[in-house]
Amino acid sequence: MTETHDVAVSPGRRPRVVLGVSGGIAAYKACELLRRLTESGHDVTVVPTAAALEFVGAPTWAALSGKPVATDVWSAVHEVPHVRIGQQADLVVVAPATADLLAKAAHGLADDLLTTTLLTARCPVVFAPAMHTEMWEHPATQANVATLRARGVLVIEPAEGRLTGKDTGKGRLPEPEEIFATCQEVLTRASTAATTHLTDLHGRSVVVSAGGTREYLDPVRFLGNRSSGLQGYALARAAAARGAEVTLVAANVSLPDPAGVKVVRVETTAQLRQEVVSAAAAADVVVMAAAPADFRPTEVSAAKIKKAADGSAAAIELQQNPDILHEISTDRARSGQIVVGFAAETGDDSGSVLELARAKLARKGCDLLVVNDVSGGAVFGSPENEAVILAADGASFDVPRGSKAALAHVIWDQVRRRLD
Ligand code: CTP
Repeated sequence: MTETHDVAVSPGRRPRVVLGVSGGIAAYKACELLRRLTESGHDVTVVPTAAALEFVGAPTWAALSGKPVATDVWSAVHEVPHVRIGQQADLVVVAPATADLLAKAAHGLADDLLTTTLLTARCPVVFAPAMHTEMWEHPATQANVATLRARGVLVIEPAEGRLTGKDTGKGRLPEPEEIFATCQEVLTRASTAATTHLTDLHGRSVVVSAGGTREYLDPVRFLGNRSSGLQGYALARAAAARGAEVTLVAANVSLPDPAGVKVVRVETTAQLRQEVVSAAAAADVVVMAAAPADFRPTEVSAAKIKKAADGSAAAIELQQNPDILHEISTDRARSGQIVVGFAAETGDDSGSVLELARAKLARKGCDLLVVNDVSGGAVFGSPENEAVILAADGASFDVPRGSKAALAHVIWDQVRRRLD
């Protein structure tokens, strides 16, 4: 398998990104991606194909990138742009990538500036395909995508939804902010000396749960919790950026879908259990980052519960919900499947945070337990997290305070090590 990151970004230098744009209507969304890349300090060279220029003209790309736009191999030939642009890049991202462009890239055709750039680039390459469902599903396109992925290229799974015209289906370009997030993940990982293979989860199917479940009392009231879903979303995004096929079961999360991730939305613990167990059947890894409600009301009123005239309040009777993590850990759907749990602990009279977590790891039967000390509600909704990862084999790893994305990658590193 090809290594994909020979170009190191030296400290202080702006990362050089080539934004390739091929000829699809989603080219207009690449303007937003370009804006995010330049505003966050990247040095972006836009390379549109001739067909892309039919959708969005060169002046737009020049204005948004702050640079002249190279559109063909015959301009400024003395600077050898067809070689130089690719050689100097830290990242090449093609958004949208059409079926035609993917076919050319898979077969090494090089008849314009973007395709020559793809052949000369030795940095990570990300394709964000967008096309009609039939074109995406065609065996020719799927074979080309498989070829590119086997070479270590990240081909983001298209989103489902409205396509050009009246059609809906798989083939939409993911939201520009999420393609941008994927680019950041890839650039960050490529600049980490320890990274040996960027798409090290390619060929792996993973399930991540996120958010907090709701248990309804009546049509408008529920018992819930403070989970924001940020850590679960960071895990899903990180796994997709490492090439995994990702299903994210999201309970009541209002965050945008991470690029390339299949998102299944649920509300209650029973729904979460059903979707996680069903997706786990074909998964190499299951990560339970969600906070399922442990109890649900024994009865759910079909009508809105009214206040009593005498001022009394009815007691709510609760019953326990199934423990999903325990179920999937003790009844593994596949041999070698890795199961990761989370534990939010405060410590109490019966033990310290870590003592309670060790006992929880044994009780749940999972392979890894990511332990957060939540005394004071520290991690809820915060973009940062710190944790200790406990392994069933007795090992433990401290993860210092940092972004939830950084913690996600440490978790995937530990999972990856155990997968073979
Ligand atoms: N979990 C689960 N199903 C539940 C409750 C929790 O799968 N019904 C999972 C969570 O997703 C998390 C892990 O179990 O990965 C730990 O959750 P936590 O609430 O800390 O554990 P509990 O089993 O509820 O233990 P406690 O008695 O400490 O509340």
